[in-house]
Amino acid sequence: MRKLTVSALLLSAALFMAYCTPRTSKAVAETSVETKEQIVAKYQPDQLEKGHTLFTGNCAKCHKLKDPGSRTPAEWDKVLKRMIPKAKLSAEDGALVRAYLIANSKQG
Ligand code: HEC
Repeated sequence: MRKLTVSALLLSAALFMAYCTPRTSKAVAETSVETKEQIVAKYQPDQLEKGHTLFTGNCAKCHKLKDPGSRTPAEWDKVLKRMIPKAKLSAEDGALVRAYLIANSKQG
């Protein structure tokens, strides 16, 4: 009987690890996206202006420009991982577009 309890405990511990660990690390990854305030503190206004110019010049080739306020920082971060390579921006220019969009994003 005791042995059974121990195995049941071990099994639930294993299940806990298997099911809860990935979710926990995803939550950590999501909160690691910089907030609007962090971006505004990190970039100079002229860098954000350059990001704006790059955005209007490169992000309307395939579709209309998306409103920066339509997405939260985490949502922009996710979309931009796909769109910056599509727009063929350098890492540096991509970072400026990302900074501009997050600085003007929906609070989230
Ligand atoms: C080479 C064409 C192309 C370029 C350049 C491009 N996009 Fe897109 N974009 C697409 C296509 C196609 C879709 C719809 C399919 C998809 O979501 O992948 C899309 C969808 C989106 C969406 C909606 C996706 C969602 O899941 O909500 C956003 C936001 C977006 N683009 C932003 C941008 C930004 C910002 C840039 C500039 C860095 C950019 N796009 C440049 C082709 C492009």
